[in-house]
Amino acid sequence: MTSQSYLADLFSLQGRNALVTGGSSGIGRAIAGALARAGASVVIVARGEAELAATVGELTADGCRAAWVSADLGSRDGVREAARRAAAVFGEPDILVNSAGVNLRPPMGELTDEVWDTTMAVNLEAPYLLGQCFGPGMAERGFGRIIHITSQQAHRAFVQSGAYGVSKGGLESLARSQAEAWSPYGVTCNTLVPGFVMTPLNRRLSADPARVAELAARTLVGRNGLAEDFAGAAVFLASRASAYVTGQSIFVDGGFSVH
Ligand SMILES: NC(=O)c1ccc[n+]([C@@H]2O[C@H](COP(=O)([O-])OP(=O)(O)OC[C@H]3O[C@@H](n4cnc5c(N)ncnc54)[C@H](OP(=O)(O)O)[C@@H]3O)[C@@H](O)[C@H]2O)c1
Repeated sequence: MTSQSYLADLFSLQGRNALVTGGSSGIGRAIAGALARAGASVVIVARGEAELAATVGELTADGCRAAWVSADLGSRDGVREAARRAAAVFGEPDILVNSAGVNLRPPMGELTDEVWDTTMAVNLEAPYLLGQCFGPGMAERGFGRIIHITSQQAHRAFVQSGAYGVSKGGLESLARSQAEAWSPYGVTCNTLVPGFVMTPLNRRLSADPARVAELAARTLVGRNGLAEDFAGAAVFLASRASAYVTGQSIFVDGGFSVH
């Protein structure tokens, strides 16, 4: 056996279908690229068509199989419609990555119903509904991978965690509930936990050099995260190699959480 075929047995995603929400930007975009380059056919879902088309254009130019669906994951009907349209492209996903998220952070006392509802809908309810759409099919086929992107705020409160922290805490619990339900049928469900990653989500914070340096100093590696830092962990969790890893929160944070 060559090392290439050994690695392919463990990690290749050839023949798998993947759906990546938020795949047009930041962490989701990097993960979509990693899964596609590892062999999966990838459908990305978000609202902005220009960013979706640009991401898919880059992947297809690289020889990957990729497509996009524009949808708002902020309502139940929107999520179900997105699931239907995404599954119509290459077939039902074997790999579901929930990276779409909003980061609305008013002080707790000023938190409105609207902020609460939007946060829960996009960050928690959409991943739940997509799991309900595709988890049973994965279990029936005997293989599936569900990967949620959560946050440090799922584990501890800081910088006005508010509704955001609640949604991410719920998402970690959702991964465990899904893992309990579907792991016996070959479907693993895990979360990737970022630290501070320089993406459009935290544009305001990234524009403050003192704050950026302060956050980098809180890691063990000595720098803030890049979207590309998630590529390896995502391919691992999506592949055969992670068959015995389920219900786990895997920190991809340069040591932020243990410093
Ligand atoms: N960056 C960090 O430091 C960090 C830290 C901890 C956790 N996270 C989590 O990591 C995930 C990815 O964050 P990121 O930093 O990569 O953010 P990002 O670059 O802002 O990307 C967010 C993605 O979600 C999509 N999205 C947002 N609202 C949506 C909606 N209603 N319907 C459909 N798609 C929607 C966006 O596309 P459209 O706007 O075009 O719809 C975009 O593709 C999020 O869940 C976030 O909470 C990030």
